[in-house]
Amino acid sequence: MKIAIGSDHAGFIQKPDIIAWLKEQGHTVIDCGPKTDDRCDYPDFADKVARLVASNQADRGILICGTGIGMALCADKVAGVRAACLQTPQFAHLFREHNNGNVLCLSGRFVSLETNKEIITEFLTTEFAGGRHSGRVDKIMREDDDQFCGVDC
Ligand code: RB5
Repeated sequence: MKIAIGSDHAGFIQKPDIIAWLKEQGHTVIDCGPKTDDRCDYPDFADKVARLVASNQADRGILICGTGIGMALCADKVAGVRAACLQTPQFAHLFREHNNGNVLCLSGRFVSLETNKEIITEFLTTEFAGGRHSGRVDKIMREDDDQFCGVDC
């Protein structure tokens, strides 16, 4: 799988380990930065990763900041992206199975590297279940459409 990854200074501490671990498993990794743990702004890296996923230049995205929250807020604004900030492997499983999530946002400060690897494993190995979930995901994506004016209009 081709995976785009980015962090800010708070998530940087886990990024090199996660990249090496993903490569060991045979994945192609696009490192969108940063290159150091100098203070930086998480939306710049969320934007890069989200756009690579939205344009199909990457299959999935992984973003790491202090909490994962800011990354998810930013990435989800890019059309075509379904991003969420997750702290457990079970939620990552359901994020894929029910929501067909394509950008995973992680906490580098409050979740261990070991747990984040378990979350990533579920994110990369769980298939979207489709079926009753497909129409719901389609309804999520209509929010990207400028012509969509809301459910009741
Ligand atoms: C940086 O201090 C912190 O705000 C950032 O890493 C992230 O947690 C934002 O959501």
